[in-house]
Amino acid sequence: MGKIPENILNEIQDKCDIVEIISGYISLKPAGRNFKACCPFHHEKTPSFVVSPDKQIYHCFGCNSGGNVFNFIKEYEKMDFIDAVKMLAEKTGVKLPEYRKSDDQDASIVSTIYSVNDVAANYYSNILEKISPSSEPRKYILKRGLDAAIIKKFRLGFADSSWKGLLDYLASRGIKQDTIFQAGLVTKGKENSYYDLFRNRIVFPIFDVRDRVIGFGARVMDETLPKYINSPETAVYKKGQHLYGLNIAKAGIKERNFAIITEGYLDVMTCHQYGANNAIASLGTALTTDQVRLLKRYTHNVVMLYDSDQAGEMASIRGLDLLLEEGMNVKIAALEKGHDPDSFLRKFGKEKFDVAIKRSKSLFTYKLDILNARFDSKEPESKAEIIKEMLSTIHRVKNAIVKAEYIKLLSQELSVKEDAVWEELKKIKTHSDRRTESGDRRNICQAVDMSPAEKILARLMLEDINIVKIVRDELKPSDFRNHDIRNIIEMLFSIDSQDGAIDIRRLMNSMSESVPQNVISRIVNEDMDIKDKEKNVCDCIMTIKKENRSMLLKDIQNRLSVAQKSGYEEEEKKLLEEFNELIKRRF
Ligand code: CTP
Ligand code: MN
Repeated sequence: MGKIPENILNEIQDKCDIVEIISGYISLKPAGRNFKACCPFHHEKTPSFVVSPDKQIYHCFGCNSGGNVFNFIKEYEKMDFIDAVKMLAEKTGVKLPEYRKSDDQDASIVSTIYSVNDVAANYYSNILEKISPSSEPRKYILKRGLDAAIIKKFRLGFADSSWKGLLDYLASRGIKQDTIFQAGLVTKGKENSYYDLFRNRIVFPIFDVRDRVIGFGARVMDETLPKYINSPETAVYKKGQHLYGLNIAKAGIKERNFAIITEGYLDVMTCHQYGANNAIASLGTALTTDQVRLLKRYTHNVVMLYDSDQAGEMASIRGLDLLLEEGMNVKIAALEKGHDPDSFLRKFGKEKFDVAIKRSKSLFTYKLDILNARFDSKEPESKAEIIKEMLSTIHRVKNAIVKAEYIKLLSQELSVKEDAVWEELKKIKTHSDRRTESGDRRNICQAVDMSPAEKILARLMLEDINIVKIVRDELKPSDFRNHDIRNIIEMLFSIDSQDGAIDIRRLMNSMSESVPQNVISRIVNEDMDIKDKEKNVCDCIMTIKKENRSMLLKDIQNRLSVAQKSGYEEEEKKLLEEFNELIKRRF
């Protein structure tokens, strides 16, 4: 259907009360001006889930979920946004814009493929359930140590060796051959006749986060190659966009606040069987940006647990750089030589496994260890090589403080002057570096946490449009260092004459692409000690100015010291001027 116009979203919201809607799902208790409940999105005993009738938004201070009524339905019903809007449109009697025909057709093939996949998954698991315990697949699964509960949870199945078993079964249920082909379950043989893609293999359904079957992987039971046959890309399955097991692991990941990333189907299943319920798999390839962003909805912390072979090592390093770019905290766990998580767990058990996870190294140490083993770190040329390799990772670290800490460590480890390492770092130019260099230098700190001053100021502005007007005269959006806050500020600054408070639920709709709803709901709901508004506004503006000024000064000083040591006289002169200029200017 494409994007739903904002005015329609607003109209739906005007016609429903978030308290009433949420009360339909959980019981709310009045608490002052708000309502409270135990959060439906995470396990808790004391209520930290708040619904505000004034603002028409909710927020949980336990798991940090929050947003307007659409977001609640989306999260509670595990629907996508469009479906949540449709549901509320129906409830409130608001008419949605007409479908465009081609989208409608796309939508119907997509939902058909989901259901065909589901029927296929049942077909395969039925075969596995019914065959004799002494048959090869059952013996194979026994050998791999998988128990009945885990087989059920992951809907494991078996494709027998017939050429048309699945095809005939689906056809008998009235499903067209062409549709089965579009679902990627059959291939075309000679004279365009179809036959089953998976034969004589153990079948692993692949799910999306909402438990829908999007494709399959199928393993041989011996050493025959290829070891796995996987579904081709279809309208519902795009490689590199999903993480195997995330539908099952998402609760465990949220609870433990980290994810274990393994390589394969069996690693995930065995981990879960042994109680490591936060394990997922990238499915044999290096992680993609889409996969990392998907995971980021649940946690920012990952432990990489790849096979302890050469391929594993290289794959994890490639994955790491990407994780860093997305602002994730990465650790790497190492297993005994020759083991993958699956074989390790079965041989050594969960306790030893937990120890390995606990002992995971920061990616810095991990990579340095690999490089130290590869090069003789006493030779100057080798040192340079190690530093270059390390910097290619370090320069991706988003947090400026962490980055500086790594540089310090690296210089200590290799007994090299810190300045020299900084200088080498400056030579690495990435896409984003180039962008920031020509623009505002302060943009370098993108993924910084919200400073209290930024948060308080944003809150006060969201509560009162008059404060926006005051702040607009004093600060630029680029003075705010947190990316989300900066986006909110930009939006607020662009609002023209309007009185009183800002309609937060509407703001959430119009900003849905740039700022997650829970960021906004947290800012407006969090307990903040704000007594004297006017004074707070002035203090915050001053603090932000001071913070920016001292960051800028520090940055110039750093560059100045590099320029002086390297004898770049032109640069030195320019920086000194900049420095003096800044000192003179009183905020
Ligand atoms: N993989 C694949 N195709 C292959 C080999 C591997 O798609 N020919 C993917 C699968 O998702 C597999 C993962 O890469 O789960 C990891 O591969 P590997 O470690 O070889 O397989 P395991 O699943 O660990 O299988 P096993 O332990 O039985 O060898
Ligand atoms: Mn394995």
